[in-house]
Amino acid sequence: MPDDSGNVDSKNYSLDTPPVKLGGYFLKGSGGYDWGMKDRLSRIFNEKSGNTVMLAFDHGYIMGPTSGLERMDLAIPPLAELADVLMCTRGALRSCIPPTYNKPVCMRTTAGASILRELSDEEVGVAIDDVIRLNSSAMAAQVHIGSEFETKSVENLNKIVNAGMKYGIPTLGVTAVGKQLGRDARYLSLASRMLAEFGAQFVKTYYCAEGFEKVTATCPVPIVIAGGKKLPEIEALEMCYNAIDQGASGVDMGRNIFQADNPVAMLKAVRSIVHEGNNAKDALDMYNTLKNEA
Ligand code: R5P
Repeated sequence: MPDDSGNVDSKNYSLDTPPVKLGGYFLKGSGGYDWGMKDRLSRIFNEKSGNTVMLAFDHGYIMGPTSGLERMDLAIPPLAELADVLMCTRGALRSCIPPTYNKPVCMRTTAGASILRELSDEEVGVAIDDVIRLNSSAMAAQVHIGSEFETKSVENLNKIVNAGMKYGIPTLGVTAVGKQLGRDARYLSLASRMLAEFGAQFVKTYYCAEGFEKVTATCPVPIVIAGGKKLPEIEALEMCYNAIDQGASGVDMGRNIFQADNPVAMLKAVRSIVHEGNNAKDALDMYNTLKNEA
């Protein structure tokens, strides 16, 4: 049986060698899927840049009316058209997003506890029928590696991946962070790799300043980063640049966009890094110019 010594010893990351892409398909680790799965992944990830800008506004499922999302019907429409993917709950989608936007949706499917309780105590709450009814392009399942309800959250992911494989819908495995959980490269690579091995087609995790390139190198499927708590704009843009530079395939960002002084300008600045290779300073200049024009 494997033990944890492999983590201590692992060092062969081959960081200079790009991932092997099976079957000529542009997305890392995704060449073996059927047409429908690839079609949905191609709606999420831009073939030209290989990356995606997902707008996360599912925070209410544990936090209630978060700052910046008090009125989703007002906050999200100006941003929705600029995002590649909307990541949200089914309640937010039906109540606040016009179906005419025709945007790929990544549907949050796990939930169960509020910020007042143990967050890892989740269940699968959204049936695959409703995911399909809402024309979702992906499903998000949160997994709490190292938490009290770790095994249950892994079972949740397995159920979602099984349902997704049946209908060709990719699963975004989300590595949870919590007060007791690590946020360093060792923890994030353990969690991200586990989610990919369980069959998640792409993984959302957090950026870490030390060793993030090892997190992306050792995860066989694309990684997108969450933004985390609101940072000064330059720090959020630097995090975004560094993550892409170190192998991330995009962002699934919420608070650093919708809590910015000018959310539309921030989303455009993030896009310029993710899709156009802008650096953080130029993206900040873009942000300030757009903000001052508004
Ligand atoms: C995590 O799964 C949350 O529900 C959010 O989707 C995620 O944290 C991304 O949002 P933020 O960039 O605000 O961290």
